[in-house]
Formats: sequence, C-alpha cells, structure tokens
Amino acid sequence: MTSLREGPTTVIRREDYVAPAYFIDTVDLTFDLDPAKTRVLNRMRVRRNPALPAQALRLDGEDLNLARVLVNGTGTSFRMEGSQLVLEKLPEGTEPFELEIFTTCNPAKNTQLMGLYVSQGTFFTQCEAEGFRRITYFLDRPDVMASFTVTLRADQAAYPVLLSNGNLVEQGPLEGGRHYAKWVDPHKKPCYLFALVAGNLVHREQKIISRSGTEHTLQVYVRRGDLDKTEHAMHSLMAAIAWDEARFGLPLDLERFMIVATSDFNMGAMENKGLNIFNTKYVLASPATATDTDFANVESVVAHEYFHNWTGNRVTCRDWFQLSLKEGLTVFRDQEFSMDMAGSPSARAVKRIEDVRVLRTAQFPEDAGPMAHPVRPDQYAEINNFYTLTVYEKGAEVVRMQQTLVGSQSDPSGREGFAKGMKLYFERHDGQAVTCDDFAQAMADANPDSDLARLLPQFKRWYSQAGTPRVKAQGIYNASERTYTLTLSQSCPATPGQPVKEPFVIPVALGLLSAEGQELPLQLAHESHARTGNRTLVLTQASETFTFINLDSAPVPSLLRGFSAPVILEHDYTDTQLLTLLAHDTDPFNRWEAGQRLALRRALTAIRADGPVPAEVLDTAYLDAMRAVLHHPGLDAAFKELVLTLPAETYIGEQLDVVDPQRIHTVREAMRQQLAHALHDDWVHAYEAHKDNGAYRPDPVSSGRRALAGLALQMLCVAARDNGNPVWPGKAYQRFKDAGNMTDRFNALQALVISGHALAQEALQRFHSQFQHDDLVLDKWFALQAGAPDRSGNILPLVRQLMQHPDFHLRNPNRARSVISTYCHANPGAFHRADAAGYAFWCERVLEIDAFNPQVAARLARALDRWSKLAEPYRSAAREAIARVAAHDALSNDVREVVTRALAD
Ligand code: TRP
Ligand code: ZN
Repeated sequence: MTSLREGPTTVIRREDYVAPAYFIDTVDLTFDLDPAKTRVLNRMRVRRNPALPAQALRLDGEDLNLARVLVNGTGTSFRMEGSQLVLEKLPEGTEPFELEIFTTCNPAKNTQLMGLYVSQGTFFTQCEAEGFRRITYFLDRPDVMASFTVTLRADQAAYPVLLSNGNLVEQGPLEGGRHYAKWVDPHKKPCYLFALVAGNLVHREQKIISRSGTEHTLQVYVRRGDLDKTEHAMHSLMAAIAWDEARFGLPLDLERFMIVATSDFNMGAMENKGLNIFNTKYVLASPATATDTDFANVESVVAHEYFHNWTGNRVTCRDWFQLSLKEGLTVFRDQEFSMDMAGSPSARAVKRIEDVRVLRTAQFPEDAGPMAHPVRPDQYAEINNFYTLTVYEKGAEVVRMQQTLVGSQSDPSGREGFAKGMKLYFERHDGQAVTCDDFAQAMADANPDSDLARLLPQFKRWYSQAGTPRVKAQGIYNASERTYTLTLSQSCPATPGQPVKEPFVIPVALGLLSAEGQELPLQLAHESHARTGNRTLVLTQASETFTFINLDSAPVPSLLRGFSAPVILEHDYTDTQLLTLLAHDTDPFNRWEAGQRLALRRALTAIRADGPVPAEVLDTAYLDAMRAVLHHPGLDAAFKELVLTLPAETYIGEQLDVVDPQRIHTVREAMRQQLAHALHDDWVHAYEAHKDNGAYRPDPVSSGRRALAGLALQMLCVAARDNGNPVWPGKAYQRFKDAGNMTDRFNALQALVISGHALAQEALQRFHSQFQHDDLVLDKWFALQAGAPDRSGNILPLVRQLMQHPDFHLRNPNRARSVISTYCHANPGAFHRADAAGYAFWCERVLEIDAFNPQVAARLARALDRWSKLAEPYRSAAREAIARVAAHDALSNDVREVVTRALAD
C-alpha cells in the first residue's frame, strides 16, 4: 500500500521558503496500538503566525483514515486537497485554539518503513524526513517545533515495553489485558524527531554521572537473545557522551537516553530525541558474530546519533534544504570522535584515509553524475533522495575546512577556534530551526581574525556550487635563484543546472621534501624567516602563484596533506617523487596517497593500451616499494593494509572519460594476481607475523593486525589459484574453522571465495549452518557471494539463485541490500555484462521493490547513475534499462526523480 502521488512530480525549491502560517505549541498524542488498525488521537494547541496574512491551515497527511476533526471541542468543516487536510473556518485572531484530529492507520501493512510500522511483532516509527504525516495530520516541517505528550496503550502481554521521547511520567494497567504508558518530552522538537516503540524487548541499562553531577540512565533495547551483543554499543554511547562534554562542553540534556534496535530499517539509524532507533547492524556486536569493521561502525553510528542530540535536535534545520547543517556537522563530529578514540597519530591517519576513500570512491562519482547537487541543494522532488554522500560526507569536509580556516599560529589545527564557533552557534540558536548560513556565520563571528571570517561569502560557495573542484599544481625550481614557484589553478566542471562555477576557497596543506625525503623549511618570498613542516596555503583565485625561497635543490612537493580540501589534485609527479613520498613523507595521508597514485598510473596505462591486458601491469619499482612497506618496522599493520590495497574499480573508472568496466576489472585482477605472486614470500612473512592476536579486542592495533593478516591470506590463496599449491587454501580453511572471532573467520572465508578455490563451497555451507539463526551474519554470507569476482558469468545466475534461498527476504532492507545492492553497486565486473542481463535484473528489482519500499528502490536505482560514461555496448544497454524503468506508469516520486535525472544526463 505504497502511496503513489498522482499527477506530475512537483519540484520543491529552496527559494520558495516561507515561514509556517501556523505554529503548533503543544501536541498530545494518544495511541491505541493494534497492528491492523491503530487509532491515533491528536490534540494540538495551534496558533496563527501573526507575521503572515490570515489564511487556511493546511495539514500534511498520507495513507491515513480520517474519522473526526474538532476545533475547540466542536465539529468543523474541512476539505481535502490532494493529501492535505485544509481547514478554513478557524477562530479569528492569533489566540491559540484546540485542534483535535482522530485518525487510524495500518502499521502491519506499512512496507515502506516510514511512519508507524511493525517489525517482528514490535511497533516502531521512522519520521525523518516526512514520515510523521503517515501517523497523523500535522505541519510536517522541521521549523514547527512543539512540546509532545504521548500516551501509548497496547496489549500488555504482546507489548510489555512502551517507549516514547522524554520522561516516563505515568504507567499502569487498563481493562481487557491492556496497559498504558505516558511520556512527556521536556524539549520542544520538530515532528521528525518523534518516536515510539512498543513490543516485547529486553534492555541493558547503565547509570552515569555527568561532569555537573547529574545522574542519567542509559538503556539499549533489543530482542530477547540479543542482550549479550549490546555491550559495545553501550560503551560507545558512554564514550560519546564523555567526548561531547570534554571537547565541546555539550552535556546530555535528558534524564533518560534510549537506543532501540530493529532489523527492519531503511537506513543506519535515527536520532529521535531521547529515543534513538537503530538498524540492528549498528547496535549488535559480539566477537563471535561481528567483524572489526562492524565494531567500528557501531561505535561511529552510536556516536553520530548521540551527537545529533545537540547538532540536529537542540538546533535543527529550518527546512530540508539545510539538511547538511545537521548531517555534515554531525558526520564531522563522529569522524573527529573516532579519530580521538583511535589515539595514536597513525591510527588517526588510518581513520582519515578510510573516510577519504569513501568520499572519493562514492561521493566524487555522485558529484560528477546526473544526481550532482550542492551540499545545500536548491531543489528536490523527493527529499529522501537527498540523504546523500554529498550532504553527509562532502558536508563534513566543508565543516572540516571551516575548522582549518579558523586555525592560527597558536591553534594550527583550528580546534580551539572551532570550539569557540560551536559555542557561539549554540548561544545564538539553541532551540531554533536555522540555516547553513547561520552556522558558518557563527563560526566566522567567533573567529573574527581568521581566514574564514575574511573569506566567508566566497567560502560559502562550498554550500551552493556542486561538483568536485580540480586543483592543478605546477612547480618550477630555479637553481640559480634557489626558489620553487608553485602555481595552483582551480576549475570545477559543470553540473546539472550549474554550467559555470566561481572559484572556491581551497585550503591546501603542504610540505616540501628533499630528494632524500627530508622535510624542508618553508619560507615564502615575503616572509622574514622559515617555518618547518606543514603549512596551509589558502587558494581563492582561479590561479595563484606561491614562491618558496632559500631552497638548495628541487623539492618534492607533498600537496593537500591530510586531504585538506575535497578536491581532485593534479600534479605531474614523477615516479621517483612518488616513491620518495611513499617512503618518507611525514604526512601519513600523503604517504598512502603516493602509493595509490603509483598503482593508479599503472592501472590507467594498461587500461588505455591497445590489445589484450598484459600479465605484467606492475613493474619492479612499484613491487619493491610495496615490499618495503610490508616489511617496514615503523609502520602500523593497519596502515600497511591500506597501502597494499589497490584502488577500487569505481575509483579507477572515475579517472577515465570512457569506462569499460570489464577491462578495468581485468586489469585490476591482473594487478592483484601479480602482487600476490611477486610478493609471495613477503605475504607469508606478513601473515605469520600478524595472524596471532590473543583474546579479541576491537582496538586499532589488533584490528589492524587482523586486517593485514587477512589481506596476506587472501593474496596467498590468490597465488595458489595459479600454482595449484593446496597449502594456503588448506590453511585458510583451517583458520576459517578454528578462528576465535568473526573477523578472522570471515577473512579466511573471503580468501577462499575470492580466490575461487574449491574449498569455498564447503566453507560457505558450513558457515551457513553455523550462523543460520543470526540475521546479521547471514547478511554477510549473502553479500560475500553476490560480491564475488565473476569468472565465467556465473555471478548473476548465483544472485538469482540466492534470491530463491529460504533465508532471502526481499522486504527486509538489510537482506535485499546484501544480495541486490551488493551485486548492482559493488560488483562492477559481474554487473556490467555484455549481454545486458545485469541491467535487466536491475530494472526488474527496482520496479519490484518500488512497489512496496520506494526509499530502498531509489537507492538501488542509482546503480546506473554513471551510464553515460560507459563504453558500448554497455552505454546503450544501460540507457535502455533506465528508460524501461522510467516508462513504468506507477513509479514512486523517489524512483521517478532518480531515473528522470539519469536520462537527462
Ligand atoms: N537522520 C538520520 C541520520 O543521520 C538518517 C535518516 C534520515 C534516516 N532519514 C531516514 C534513517 C529514514 C532511517 C530512515 O543518521
Ligand atoms: Zn545523521
């Protein structure tokens, strides 16, 4: 029963914003919960906005059955306009009045998982962005903030736990085996932060005392049987609370803070005030069932949702165009938190590299494709489509640059200046619904002498202009003058609706190294003395030249250290320079980046060459450098694993004008094969040195060791594929069976599956029977198979077969994604088939899923975003598949927007 909005898709524009015509000061909701027919009584205190002319009250609603509308206790006339309830005859003046609306809805049939729905016998809600209107008629917009009182009534035996936002003020039995609970939220909030949960759940509880001495109760609710997997989430929550108080002076403002896990969830998690609702994937973790990556994800998502309590909830968005106000800022905060938790500089760098890798492999393509949009979009047809990598991850980079640009001599990182900006932001805007401009203004005003304050209007182009800027760097060394002249030029490609871009403010952190790898003192022509190490140049023009003096020999530039801006940096590095950076740079990010550039250059050469892919894509210089990294005594295992991992196929594809996915796949496979053989003995050494790590702990050091051991084992199995030597596959199988934790077990299984060894089948079967009762582990089992390298066109038939498996459930988003999204989004070599069968499969699934869950379908629909860059025959076939989806007459707004934009590319 998805609601397909009739008529042509309407576009919502940022410039059309008007304040709400009415305010809702209080809401008193009473739910009679029943899966098939839940009754919702909604009593509001409403007041006309005196700043606007008198007009009708238009309330949003969707998939509701309306039974009654009363104004100040008496019946009133109303009409429906589309899905809106319109009330015209309201009391005159601006005095508040009572509005009472009684509706029913059907949570059991709510397959979209927006609004009120049932998952495994438990009621959950999801209201962001526009789900509250599926619960009751309301002004469903974030700038209408109300005080909520919620009474839940339900069958006591089936739903012993009744939760909502805020504090529990009353509870007790009712007639007929029912009971009730009454909750009052002490904070005003927009309705997208409303939540309720009702079901048979158990919880872990923890009392904490804040810095100011107040006591708080923390609770994590899960299904019976999952309690032993909640310790890590609880620890992460406590760490996040302590961190926000320590770094930003932001305390927990509630007596009670709850997290509830559900296995049916469209996204990662949701920051409802005091009652966060999570996808089980980001709550549950035990050493036996979760990998190191899962543990890290739980930590960062728990922190992310907690941090929203201030950045999102206490100060919220004026309208949904401002989404990055809360999301970009909160991602920045969770990234900083994870780095601070990681501890050592090296572990911090590993986290930074991982974050940048996500940005470059996934956000850069988005910014170069048909769905490209500014961090603060100007228009949308369906807001759900704008919970994107651009709003989240690029938005976080835009916040990070603000931190960099408030830095000073005494505060080089900008951390202190940034904390001052946050303080001012909350002094000004606590309790308000504001814009991205308000945030940047507070940051600049708190740091009046900073580059940010000086350049604010231009800096804000990062919010308004889409596309990834390119920075071209050219360096000329003048031996007689002893100068090095660095010219930085920026440009930004056209994006939909934005043919021409103005220059950005781009902080370029850099250092100069000698040919021997020594960090050189940096002195610009106008400066009286040199500074050692890192410094940040701020590029504001289309092209600028910087002259460094007193240099005895040609330097090796280490540019964009720490990835100081979300740009593509182009520089004609020689191999020798890259090898110097890889071996000696003091900036770990650029050290890693040098290795990636070396690999990328070799991949691109082989891809662009005519004729069949050579067996030897990698040369001795590269292989020797990788060997040196692997044996380096001073580098962490986690960092080595990142350096030894080849650039992803999609990242390679982004560097090309025309993408032949099969050729990219073949070249990368050849590189992997070569790396496996040429470094065989080194992999043996690495494996033996890192395979034993004692009792499981998800700390950065031991997880880095497990990652490197896992990669080594995979390489050894890949090598065994050609030489037929059964020793390493045998060892992998043994490790798979004996492993003391899921990380080692899964890495061993993956090594067998990726290398395509015969033992893989046995191992997969064993894994399934061992973990068949654990949904999250089964998701991994499905995903591993759907994402396996395609050797003979066998993956698509396997994917179809997996969909017939008794454990496959299309309606469960995690399970659907584990098979379908993994295949369409994360397995390009298997998806882009010359016979177009991958695209036909995609088309079928998008339509099939759209009929019951548009949000999930629209994300899948984006798998063909980059169709126009494909080589033939892929290009025409992909376009045809998109056109087939677009031609369907009963599409959701969500999917329609994605495919319409794709076809316009
Ligand atoms: N605001 C949530 C977050 O940042 C994500 C979110 C937005 C969401 N819309 C959603 C989650 C819909 C589930 C369903 O973390
Ligand atoms: Zn968020």
